[in-house]
Amino acid sequence: MVLRVAIVGPGRVGSALGRQLRGPRVELLGFVGRNEAAATRACAWAGQGRVLQWADLRAAHVVIFAVGDADLATAVAAAVAASAQRSCALWLHTSGRFGLEVFRDAGLHRETGQPQVRLGALHPVAPFPDAEQGFRNLPGAPGVWLGEARSERLLVRLCHLLGLVPIQDRAGDRVLYHAACALAANGLTALRSQVDAVFAGAGGLDRADAARLAEALMGSALRSCAALGPQAALSGPVLRGDAGTVVAHLRSLEASVPAVRDTYVALMQAALALAVARGLPQAAADAVQNALSRAPSGPDPGVQPRSGD
Ligand SMILES: NC(=O)c1ccc[n+]([C@@H]2O[C@H](COP(=O)([O-])OP(=O)(O)OC[C@H]3O[C@@H](n4cnc5c(N)ncnc54)[C@H](OP(=O)(O)O)[C@@H]3O)[C@@H](O)[C@H]2O)c1
Repeated sequence: MVLRVAIVGPGRVGSALGRQLRGPRVELLGFVGRNEAAATRACAWAGQGRVLQWADLRAAHVVIFAVGDADLATAVAAAVAASAQRSCALWLHTSGRFGLEVFRDAGLHRETGQPQVRLGALHPVAPFPDAEQGFRNLPGAPGVWLGEARSERLLVRLCHLLGLVPIQDRAGDRVLYHAACALAANGLTALRSQVDAVFAGAGGLDRADAARLAEALMGSALRSCAALGPQAALSGPVLRGDAGTVVAHLRSLEASVPAVRDTYVALMQAALALAVARGLPQAAADAVQNALSRAPSGPDPGVQPRSGD
């Protein structure tokens, strides 16, 4: 059977998913947007589909709500108000933050006499800075799905159609899950921009070379974590208990790139916890802790660089 899919939300995620949904086993009906121009653009970019009205959702086997988290309940409520439910259709959202409660809160499954759609969530675990890059990030990315028992097969099928590797979420704490995703993706992106700023402050390297260093180090650190786990993958001055180098870093950051100081302290505190778990002696750990607790531009805590570091 050809699966007919409609997408509510012609933004970054909706457009990327719409472009990916092609082939003999799937038909993209089109997009419902808050304004027609955005839906028209998404159809053109996806290369298929048409501008849909709420009532058109009744023709779809699968309705994907790809609107922003703050708009999700309103969009579902609008679809419910238009009586757009089709018996046995699957309605799913792409939010990492919400579970299935968002559908019920918006009025689904409350009204008697309405067809009971199946409910699910399918979170494409990839960054979508724009539709184009998101589309490139889709193949092989995890598709974390959550659904009623009667939704499971279709959710997994949809993951395969989208090129995602299906992973089931057994209804854990969605907000914490989403915080972890935000830290991993947005946190790393923000960290990369701060690393760039510190390399620029140091001078001596042109921008492209500095970018290569950042990418090489961040990539190999992630590969070490994958191979060894974060505790065994840690390296550097904190692991060595080298409080003198930590103080030197802080002084230079305060003088040249003060906006990065707090990030450095927060991340090196986390690194210190890993180093202690790895067996860093208490005296060395205390010295690093003193260095990190030093007030900006305050007096040195009286530590000397260790030789050979
Ligand atoms: N971006 C990511 O990296 C990423 C990754 C995975 C999952 N997600 C999730 O995917 C969802 C969409 O994110 P996004 O980044 O694609 O957001 P986005 O680019 O802001 O797109 C959301 C789209 O939904 C439209 N919209 C809002 N309310 C609507 C309504 N009531 N009816 C119809 N259309 C409506 C918006 O229209 P306007 O243009 O008028 O605002 C916009 O076109 C979110 O739940 C997000 O958490 C995002």
